[in-house]
Amino acid sequence: MTPDTPANSSVAPHTAAAAVPAIVPVPVLETEHLTQRYEGREVLQDINLRLQPGESLGIIGESGAGKSTLARLVMALERPAAGVVRWSGEDIHRLPEHQRRARRSRVQMVFQDPYSSLDPRWRVGRSIAEPLQRLPMTAAEREQRLAEVLDAVQLDPDAARRFPHQFSGGQRQRLAIARALATRPSLIVADEPLSALDVSVQAQILALLRDLQRREAISLVLISHDLPAVEVLCDHALVLRHGQVVEHGATADVLGEPRHPYTRSLLSALA
Ligand SMILES: Nc1ncnc2c1ncn2[C@@H]1O[C@H](COP(=O)(O)OP(=O)(O)O)[C@@H](O)[C@H]1O
Ligand SMILES: [Mg+2]
Repeated sequence: MTPDTPANSSVAPHTAAAAVPAIVPVPVLETEHLTQRYEGREVLQDINLRLQPGESLGIIGESGAGKSTLARLVMALERPAAGVVRWSGEDIHRLPEHQRRARRSRVQMVFQDPYSSLDPRWRVGRSIAEPLQRLPMTAAEREQRLAEVLDAVQLDPDAARRFPHQFSGGQRQRLAIARALATRPSLIVADEPLSALDVSVQAQILALLRDLQRREAISLVLISHDLPAVEVLCDHALVLRHGQVVEHGATADVLGEPRHPYTRSLLSALA
């Protein structure tokens, strides 16, 4: 038996190539015909999204357009009236509750107000490590991960022992980002994460998000009025108006050469 004969080595790569199908990554997030109604009123209509691993999508639209509703549906925080949300190929709203809970660590959210994810009565280390409680990790591994994510958002390790009110607004948003990173999610949904911050701090948090995006292959859905932020962070952009998509494409096209008059007026209003 001589497996390394010339005949073998010339044939093997050919058969191997023929036998292996092209690898198509499973999208981190997909929505199909996603629709929501409140009190009979349609606030989101037929939203179709697809995000591959590491890709980022910016969502822009005026107040009341349905952006936060879309975020809550994507996060499986509420059920849609119709349509599908898939996390890595699985219809998340149709999974039994215990399976949905088991997958929660894969998708994390950052809110406009960092207090949404930081309990004011808890030392911040506890809030940041809280999503890790549901993962099979030892206490020492959780401590280690806490130190890693504080480092990732450029805060001292001893920050963990302090309370949220002892930080500035920008630092609190870093802490909220650390919490979102802790479970190594494949997707982060950030709903206006810069809006509550001073302009100079916005630039720092934006730089942090861009840095994280480059180092970790996390997909991002960024809801933002801040067009430069969408430009810097997002491959794709989507414009939402009255719950409907008016424009969706590569960020450079949507922001640079908007086709829809609504996008043009929105862009000049936001610029
Ligand atoms: N829980 C709710 N019950 C009833 N109406 C709601 C609820 N949440 C949002 N809405 C309405 O749905 C529409 C979309 O809201 P929202 O998703 O918060 O928009 P955006 O985040 O773009 O400002 C708005 O008209 C809002 O008033
Ligand atoms: Mg909103």
